[in-house]
Amino acid sequence: MKRSLGVCYYPEHWPRDMWEKDATRMVASGITWVRIGEFAWSRIEPAPGTFDFDWLDDAIDVLSAAGLQIILGTPTCTPPVWMTERFPDIFARDAQGHVRGFGSRRHYCFSHAGYREAAAEICTVLGARYGRDPRIHAWQIDNEYGCHDTVLSWSEAARDAFQTWLATRYETIDALNTAWGNVFWSMEYSRFDQIGLPSLMVTEANPSHEMAFRRFSSDQVVRWHEAQVSALRAQTEAPLVHNYMGRVLDFDHFQVGASIDIASWDSYPIGFLSDRLEGPPEHKARYLQQGDPDMQAFHHDLYRAVGRNGRWWVMEQQPGPVNWAPYNPAPLPGMVRLWTWEAFAHGAEMVSYFRWRQAPFAQEQMHAGLLRPDDAPAPGLGEAEVVARELADMPDVSVVRADVALIFDYPSEWAWNTLPQGADFNYFRLALDTYRALRRQGVSVDILPSTVSDLEGYSLVLAPGMASLPEALREAFRGRTVLAGPRTNCITPEFSIPDPMGPALPGLDATVSRVESLPPGIVRSVPDGGAVLRWIETLETEATVDFEDETGAPVLVSSGNVHYLGAWPDEMLWARIIPMLAEKAGVALTPVPEDLRIRDTQTHRFAFNYGPDTVEFNGEVIAAAGVAWWPLQPIERA
Ligand code: GAL
Repeated sequence: MKRSLGVCYYPEHWPRDMWEKDATRMVASGITWVRIGEFAWSRIEPAPGTFDFDWLDDAIDVLSAAGLQIILGTPTCTPPVWMTERFPDIFARDAQGHVRGFGSRRHYCFSHAGYREAAAEICTVLGARYGRDPRIHAWQIDNEYGCHDTVLSWSEAARDAFQTWLATRYETIDALNTAWGNVFWSMEYSRFDQIGLPSLMVTEANPSHEMAFRRFSSDQVVRWHEAQVSALRAQTEAPLVHNYMGRVLDFDHFQVGASIDIASWDSYPIGFLSDRLEGPPEHKARYLQQGDPDMQAFHHDLYRAVGRNGRWWVMEQQPGPVNWAPYNPAPLPGMVRLWTWEAFAHGAEMVSYFRWRQAPFAQEQMHAGLLRPDDAPAPGLGEAEVVARELADMPDVSVVRADVALIFDYPSEWAWNTLPQGADFNYFRLALDTYRALRRQGVSVDILPSTVSDLEGYSLVLAPGMASLPEALREAFRGRTVLAGPRTNCITPEFSIPDPMGPALPGLDATVSRVESLPPGIVRSVPDGGAVLRWIETLETEATVDFEDETGAPVLVSSGNVHYLGAWPDEMLWARIIPMLAEKAGVALTPVPEDLRIRDTQTHRFAFNYGPDTVEFNGEVIAAAGVAWWPLQPIERA
């Protein structure tokens, strides 16, 4: 498949007489896709029931006539002000009970049934008009579920829906009281309608209550999404897409992805580094204008798993400085090209830049586009044009199944946020550390959901931090090299300590008998290199001890190919653990310089230099922000 480029465009932001010139210029730059419409409800339906499609028809005519394939967004993340008058209780509430009102976007609660219907209705209206229009090549449903912390809502609609959800899940109030352990602190309920949302309590809520709220909130996103999916499916054959985000984990993306055709995500590497990643100041300084070397790739691999049949796009690619992080440096020259190629190397079918032209008004006036507000090219445009030329000459970049799989599980993120037991135990961070450790050894990784039951073809499987291990996955572990832990299988899905206690891995005699969390700066070293930090488990075991700490306590134990890691390793320890596992599993490693990452496709090995300096690798000199690729021997895999 040929990979392609796209751009996000807002015809409603620009005078009509600019549209033709914009469309022609997009095509001349090598762009073949354009996304429109996702925030345009107030122009499509200026008053309840009064539609104005003239401008949208016109925009579709102009863009399509220029040769662009259109992605039409459903405008449901920006209900117009009249909708909020129709449903004064449409808004989400924060944990303090404050209304999150009108004046920006995403001002709706996923549990508001009336608005859910209204959102499905606008999809029906749009679907009836454009569903069979061959110029509409895909639909984007809503925009970035969960953006601006909007999955969890403490509204009345959410409370009522939560009570119904609980009654369906537990059937009897006694079952709920038992599952949650409500005898503790006299928290027993006698009716479902007595149960509130877990906020504004004197101290922390019961973790079972909190976890149920997290599961419920995720289900509400899925339900909301499926209302739009059904409305559109009835009207169109075009693929349905959603644009997910980086490190927004409050809902189960695999479940949202199950009903649509293509996963996409919005990649803002420099914003993420400053806004939503931990890491020492040296790391942040080194990658200030490039972004973290593993954050984008992690999400590429994650969303490849979320997309049906591995289909995924980057719907929004950072093209220059953004406006929303605490500090907003510009990308190093070359990074826009690098990010784009990195996405293709991980299998993206399309990379679309956000946005065509910087808006001179409103909230994002400081956010770069491919063009400046005065229409002059911004630096990102030239790099997109380079990629377009390179793509024309490149052979196809097909994905090949990796040898190594990393299991990713949204409920584990909710579980460890609910009861961290150490202020910086964070599931995503653990998963990213594990992924980084693999990539430092030059390994290409497939990310898989925890619902997977067949690991055929994977020589090595890592499942760090999985709160509860589903039985099917546990069975699928048999016969392959596996690493689980820390904190694997140590709570039940209802949030209590299981009997037998974790990790209960097949064929491994080990029990976590105690856990400790350590504050920043405190480590226990491991003889011969590396240390453990943040989280340490006491393991009762007869298994082989592969690594122990300075006190002689086991850190990593195994029985045959099944390994359990009872601590959080630092980078140096990971650099010893991965080669040991790879050797057992027969996985080839290619250790890479600190700033470099590689990724293998069916036919090529790609290398990406995230560092500020030139790197030498594989006989080639790769400049800062540079990309290189070499043909590979075709990889034959079952
Ligand atoms: C995304 C969003 C876009 C725009 C962009 C700015 O989160 O989908 O609409 O706001 O960020 O970086």
